[in-house]
Amino acid sequence: MINIHFSRLTEPTTAIAASFTRWENDQQIKYLARFNRNQADLDASNEITIASLVQRIQHTAIYLIYLHQQLIGEMSYQIDPPLLLKPEANSAWISITIGEHQARGQGIGNQALAYLEQQIATQGLRRIELGVFEFNQPAFALYAKRGYHEIGRITDFTYWQGRMWADIRMEKWL
Ligand SMILES: CC(C)(COP(=O)(O)OP(=O)(O)OC[C@H]1O[C@@H](n2cnc3c(N)ncnc32)[C@H](O)[C@@H]1OP(=O)(O)O)[C@@H](O)C(=O)NCCC(=O)NCCS
Repeated sequence: MINIHFSRLTEPTTAIAASFTRWENDQQIKYLARFNRNQADLDASNEITIASLVQRIQHTAIYLIYLHQQLIGEMSYQIDPPLLLKPEANSAWISITIGEHQARGQGIGNQALAYLEQQIATQGLRRIELGVFEFNQPAFALYAKRGYHEIGRITDFTYWQGRMWADIRMEKWL
């Protein structure tokens, strides 16, 4: 049986920062999760440090995703960040990365989002918005399956394979 658990990040460690850094720079997924203006951005490596995580958790709730006690991904939500397409008060802006490739495609992303939505609802928030690049069909399919609907597209948003692509914004009311 798949043994998954989730844990709110409160005390970043060297090991956690190292996993985040590895996922952030992984060629297989870096173009999916982070936005790039050009090839130089896409090629750049970023280091996630304990200090940067400590700063991030001041305004973002991060949850670590574990499979059989191994850290395999992370997800987060932020309340009413300026980047919302629809600035409805009390919106949660979410993101998710299953960083370890062997953990993808087994229903973990789906379960993780169900948990994140529950945490958001517990905070009294009723709306979720997210962004997904137009070429990221697996992620788009997951969000559609979980009841997220497209509310707009921001064209020329991120660079990949020699051209710019749109960011699809989706929302879900809880
Ligand atoms: C996108 C991501 C979060 C999905 O998590 P996952 O655990 O791999 O997905 P699940 O196994 O829970 O799949 C749930 C649904 O997603 C869709 N999906 C997942 N992988 C897919 C694939 N390779 N192709 C098509 N659809 C896929 C399907 O709708 C699937 O439902 P189904 O199994 O009933 O068909 C994960 O693959 C990931 O982190 N990818 C890299 C980073 C990324 O793209 N993050 C999202 C940025 S917006």
